[in-house]
Amino acid sequence: MAMDSFLPNFWYLVVAGRAVAPGRTVPATLLGQAILVGRARDGGVFAYADRCPHRGMPMRHGSFDGEALQCGYHGWRFRAGDGRCVSIPALAERDTIEPGRFALRSFACREVQGNIWVYPGDAAGGDAAGDEAGPDGLPAVPTVPGFDGVAPQVSAVMRFPCPADVATMGFIDPAHPAFVHTSRWWKRKPSTSLRAKEKAFEPDALGFRMKRHHLKHGANPYRLLGRNVHVDVTIQLPGLRIEHIQGDRHSACVLAMSTPVGAEQTDVHYCVWWSMGWLAAARPAARWMARDFLRQDYDVAVQLQEGGAPFPPPMFVGDADAQIRWFLRVKKEYQASRSERRAFANPLREQVLQWRS
Ligand code: FES
Ligand SMILES: [Fe+2]
Repeated sequence: MAMDSFLPNFWYLVVAGRAVAPGRTVPATLLGQAILVGRARDGGVFAYADRCPHRGMPMRHGSFDGEALQCGYHGWRFRAGDGRCVSIPALAERDTIEPGRFALRSFACREVQGNIWVYPGDAAGGDAAGDEAGPDGLPAVPTVPGFDGVAPQVSAVMRFPCPADVATMGFIDPAHPAFVHTSRWWKRKPSTSLRAKEKAFEPDALGFRMKRHHLKHGANPYRLLGRNVHVDVTIQLPGLRIEHIQGDRHSACVLAMSTPVGAEQTDVHYCVWWSMGWLAAARPAARWMARDFLRQDYDVAVQLQEGGAPFPPPMFVGDADAQIRWFLRVKKEYQASRSERRAFANPLREQVLQWRS
């Protein structure tokens, strides 16, 4: 995945909100750019290019008092709220240079449902789904249904040594779980007893959706939601999967996102929300399970790189590989629509897929 296949005009989950305390900054890399994510004393979050405009010193080597970021090289201070320079210590009194002429390069940054999202593109280029742009010209931050203002009960992140699209394949490839995710806690059936599956899909915004369907042979944890459990799954650019599981008593959502660090490194975020308050005690175990699950996909990513597997993958065989093929088609059409300066036209249509998993 070359750098030019990055999609800057999308929101990316960069870090869990609770990992950034007030008055703290966290350095990160997003689409190859060094950024500094932080939280001011008043609780607001920000993201700036991690580069002092004076001489290019990474701001991560400076300090932050909860109100202003100070560069570690010559002490320029920048307001956390808008990145404006407010002080240049070396200037003499007769110097009339206005510090406010200078600023850190700022990125749109929001905290939504317990996660901090950053938009590495420019507002003018905002085009997710081509429609729901807010007053600031940016698309809405992706959310999971039914958990407004609620942080995930469990979240895990792991850095995969592969391009983002390879990591995303791990979310949308129904043929691998029976062989890769074989932990006893997740599914009891051995990989040899695959079941026939039939699922209806439809195009949706910048991606597609597995239509809401009744869960017949759910993995064990789903039984906690009560009876009559229904599931729907959306897959969206730039590499986002949201699964919504609704039972007659409770609901849960699982969000997985591939956030490109660089061309060959991807942070895979995995967050789970559930409405069962009494299940709080299970959080440490669930966190362990989430990490174990991620680790299995991580191992696949490492092994694929080891084998020099080409990307895009050379073969798409049967309906089992259709979702990967669709994702790549949607991305291709999105990129074509951008370079031709026209509206995105979803190339997919409603379809029923059959596979065994
Ligand atoms: S490089 Fe930052 S103050 Fe000089
Ligand atoms: Fe997987």
